[in-house]
Amino acid sequence: MPPKRKPLTERMAQVERDLETSDWCTLFHDALSAFEKRCTLKPKKVVCLGLGSLSDWAPARYQLALLLRLCRNFDIPTERIEAFDPVFTKEDTEYLAGLDMQVATEDMEARYELIDPTLVFMPHCDLPFYNNLFEINWSRERLANMILLGNNLDDYVVSGPTKRVQSKGPLIMKIVPHLSATSLPNKFPLEDAAFNDLQLQFVKMSELPPEEDEFWKLDIASGEKDALAS
Ligand SMILES: C[S@@+](CC[C@H](N)C(=O)[O-])C[C@H]1O[C@@H](n2cnc3c(N)ncnc32)[C@H](O)[C@@H]1O
Repeated sequence: MPPKRKPLTERMAQVERDLETSDWCTLFHDALSAFEKRCTLKPKKVVCLGLGSLSDWAPARYQLALLLRLCRNFDIPTERIEAFDPVFTKEDTEYLAGLDMQVATEDMEARYELIDPTLVFMPHCDLPFYNNLFEINWSRERLANMILLGNNLDDYVVSGPTKRVQSKGPLIMKIVPHLSATSLPNKFPLEDAAFNDLQLQFVKMSELPPEEDEFWKLDIASGEKDALAS
């Protein structure tokens, strides 16, 4: 018979201790300090998407531990974290609610409007979700409110945009040249898949095209998408 799993509370406590005391965490703090020198935005809240199930998936537990660490760093109380993943179990939801986090019930497919300075925590989410996030916030005012911890979006573009990237991530192709990114340390020996290829990113506002530029036209992106899909 397989050994009985410990409760999530115990497993998370262990993961948080392991993360805190790891060499990786020291390297992460160096990266975060470098990021904060470049990005002066102070997030007031968090949108956390696509963690995966905390009870079933070890990388999700380490990612949550990192998020809690970041919130302490930015002085964001846990009540100001909204989280959603369709795979959250009852145990996951109860655990997150027990931390005073808001567990969303509606699937917004990452279309969260950033009214206040926000850390959007989306580790290893799929490309269309990043595109949706940018689409709903496709204005100077909203983009200025975004710090994104997510995949290295540059990879999609640099590796030569495939038809899929052109159709599912048209805004990613547009925004990538205007992002400033700081990579997280890559090798996390305790759980390989937790933090690989992740970056902290923000939009370099001063380098964005003027308001009348085609860049801001969303219908062009959709038109291209339709043409490519047909
Ligand atoms: C590639 S997995 C990443 C899981 C984990 N963060 C990791 O790094 O291993 C993508 C995650 O996005 C979640 N997801 C799918 N649709 C979603 C939606 N509409 N909103 C938020 N998360 C979603 C999936 O359930 C899955 O947990």
